[in-house]
Amino acid sequence: MTAVLTIEQPAYFDRLAEVEAAHWWSLGMWRLGAHWLDATLRGRQGLAALDVGCGTGQTALRLACRPEIGSVVGLDPSAEALAHARRRHAFPLVRGSALDLPFGKSRFDVITCFDVLQHLPQDGDRRAADELYRVLAPGGVALVRSNAQAWTSASPAVEGGYRLGALVKVFEVSGFTVSHATHANCLPALVQELRGRLVRSGRAGPSSHPSGGGLRIRLPHPWVNRLMGSVATAEAVVAGRLNARLPFGHSTMLLVSRNDER
Ligand SMILES: C[S@@+](CC[C@H](N)C(=O)[O-])C[C@H]1O[C@@H](n2cnc3c(N)ncnc32)[C@H](O)[C@@H]1O
Repeated sequence: MTAVLTIEQPAYFDRLAEVEAAHWWSLGMWRLGAHWLDATLRGRQGLAALDVGCGTGQTALRLACRPEIGSVVGLDPSAEALAHARRRHAFPLVRGSALDLPFGKSRFDVITCFDVLQHLPQDGDRRAADELYRVLAPGGVALVRSNAQAWTSASPAVEGGYRLGALVKVFEVSGFTVSHATHANCLPALVQELRGRLVRSGRAGPSSHPSGGGLRIRLPHPWVNRLMGSVATAEAVVAGRLNARLPFGHSTMLLVSRNDER
């Protein structure tokens, strides 16, 4: 396996599991992607799915619950993440890196890769995109999410954050057709921006991105979680079902497909 920087902290994955399962941000992100998958996978069955950088396994579990999916594999380089996932889930979990996927070509019909690219070494995203293309079957789709670059000079800098166009380019160069691309988490980014302009306290920073800063994100009060959940659900409908491209936000999301001949 190519050398990768793995996160081996039990506390990190305890927090990740909690956030992935119940935080408005995680639920909203999944709903957005699920709208795209609904439209793209309609009528298909028994599909083989892979979640790259599966962490504690919540996305793989969500995939496994979809009617089109027949089998799911989770992959992560972190032994700690996989141990956490194994305690909760029965699907196969494989230790490995997005940079060198331990699978044969055309093995999967659906791949998810959420908040992994920003953890890869320089140019690792290009290599990971090539690897996703290799293991995806012709006709298959991949749902990719990463963090987004700061969108004004007043926004806090996000280490490794993408411009949407740059992320699209990475996947097009690997041979993918990009059918959907948007920012996500638009309104929370706007609130953060306004707060940053009004209160230059320095408190907002990479940690305010849900996947950044060592995952300092915590579950908010249930009322706040519900309120923000409604906002995220509305955004998911606008970007996911109505296919509007949101102009900025904390995250970038793509649905890409491999359209060459079988
Ligand atoms: C921010 S967490 C995201 C976890 C999960 N995908 C989610 O959306 O909640 C980043 C994950 O990427 C994994 N990771 C780091 N380097 C990786 C690599 N080279 N290949 C695959 N996964 C990697 C980490 O171990 C961690 O589980």
